[in-house]
Amino acid sequence: MSVPTRRSAVLSVLTLIGTLAVPIMAAEPAFASGPLRTHAAARGKFIGYAAANGPLSSEAAYRNIAATEFNQVTAENAMKWDATEPSDNNYTFSNADAIVSFAQANNQAIHGHTLVWHSQTPSWVQGLGASAMRTAMQDHISRVVGRYANSVATWDVVNEVFNEDGTFRSSFWYNTLGQSFIADAFRYARAADADAKLCINDYNVEGINAKSTAMYNLVVSLRNQGVPIDCVGFQAHLAVQYGFPNLQANIERFAALGVDVRITELDVRIPLPADSNEITAQNTYYRNVITACNNVARCTGVTIWGFTDKHSWVPGTFPNEGQALIYDANYGVKPAYTAVHDALAGGPPPVDTTPPTTPGTLTASGVTSSSVTLSWGASTDNVAVTGYDILQNGAVRTTVSGTSATVSGLSSSTAYQFAVRARDAAGNTSANSNTVSITTLPGGGGGGCSAVATVQTQWSGGYVIQPVTVTNTGTSQTTSWTVTFTLPSGHAIVGSWNAALTVSGQTVTARNMPYNGTLGPNASTTFGFQVSRPTGSTSVPSGYTCAV
Ligand code: G3I
Repeated sequence: MSVPTRRSAVLSVLTLIGTLAVPIMAAEPAFASGPLRTHAAARGKFIGYAAANGPLSSEAAYRNIAATEFNQVTAENAMKWDATEPSDNNYTFSNADAIVSFAQANNQAIHGHTLVWHSQTPSWVQGLGASAMRTAMQDHISRVVGRYANSVATWDVVNEVFNEDGTFRSSFWYNTLGQSFIADAFRYARAADADAKLCINDYNVEGINAKSTAMYNLVVSLRNQGVPIDCVGFQAHLAVQYGFPNLQANIERFAALGVDVRITELDVRIPLPADSNEITAQNTYYRNVITACNNVARCTGVTIWGFTDKHSWVPGTFPNEGQALIYDANYGVKPAYTAVHDALAGGPPPVDTTPPTTPGTLTASGVTSSSVTLSWGASTDNVAVTGYDILQNGAVRTTVSGTSATVSGLSSSTAYQFAVRARDAAGNTSANSNTVSITTLPGGGGGGCSAVATVQTQWSGGYVIQPVTVTNTGTSQTTSWTVTFTLPSGHAIVGSWNAALTVSGQTVTARNMPYNGTLGPNASTTFGFQVSRPTGSTSVPSGYTCAV
């Protein structure tokens, strides 16, 4: 057969974008109609499917959807080693060629899956000694990548090299050749096609975890060595019972390395029989994956691992689980299709109109001349409570994330009323809690203080604030003082001295110790503390406020 060229396919896709996307978007809201590929292309992304040769050759409904809805394809099995080189130097490309032909006829970008994997590799390879195995790998990569150099745009060069804890998988590749097989595979692939984008691919690397961090570190190391690696693939075989990973943050950290990110094998399985909550969760997972990819420029697109529940690897591998794809077994669209479609098209996301429940009983304690500590019971929400508004005399004074807070900066000998309400990400707010009334203590005549903090030292994972100098700026002696400040998200106090620190949400309250609360006018004392912070964070606390 003749293999259509990659250049002509890319030009055709661009032509398609130019001819289809603009008129549709101008004529009506983008989300109103159009196949998935139109909306993906308008974003400069791909939406793909994994092609199975059986239905591709024998089912018109399969072919019709595959051609109409997707602008990218990955061969589900046809480009794997056992399919392309079942015995030494005996190559069979008929199934791979059939997928390439269909893709080219329908202007679809082709992703090659996969060159070096511990699975679906014939036993003749697995039994080779080190030198022969490296030669076999080089020959295989050069022959397969070379054949499709003008048609396959991107390759999974190595697949699934990590264990869940981030150590290297003890595969026959690793055990025979050591870690170097990975760099070698990428170099052989680059030698066979200077233009193809070369990827590493794995599962359970969608969120930030030990496995994805190992992959991240490997990408850094390979790039530092000049190994030609261009992209990473997150397979994304998700399951509603295991929760949704922190995908976008993970995409962003890889993108910051200068590599593309692909979602390569998306499906979302459900324990059977599926109930309506699980189907809703599945829709949300599909929508969230598309949205996360939409939100990061270097995420080039999403491939769904099949598209119809009629042909899916899931039931054969996970008994009693299934319905993982976006079309049902009769080629009818499922709500998951609509979720993918609307996320690609930019249609309105589902509107959350359910407010959180009313917070539990509000109480006040620790009243001083200038502050009060409030505590209340947590609210719940159909999605998530994102914060609590503290209402001071009926107006929102501040919003906090925890269920207690110290309100400072109050006037002495003054009556105040406080209530709290919960809010969610959509802006829905609960009913107000009960109201508490307090009167601040007398100020003792012109009380006041200041707090000035100094960053003594800092490193990537933390810092020391020392000294925080507390000065009595009033005209009479104090017997106590309170300094509040805001801790950046993700930071944690690991130690303090010369003050007692309590943390509520992002608000830290530092109170004097028994021995340093008394300060005459203009007198000062100091305290300090140490904080840990996530690697990469460079922020330090802010908003130091002192009250006596
Ligand atoms: O083609 C033969 C058929 O002739 C035979 O009658 C039948 C009997 O079992 O087997 C058929 O081959 C099967 C092949 O799929 C094609 O359907 C293999 O047994 C079966 O093991 C193979 O499963 C594939 C699996 O990878 C192998 O590990 C799945 O289709 C494929 O979806 C799956 O894909 C992998 C990705 O490559 C990597 N990431 C995980 C993903 C899911 O496991």
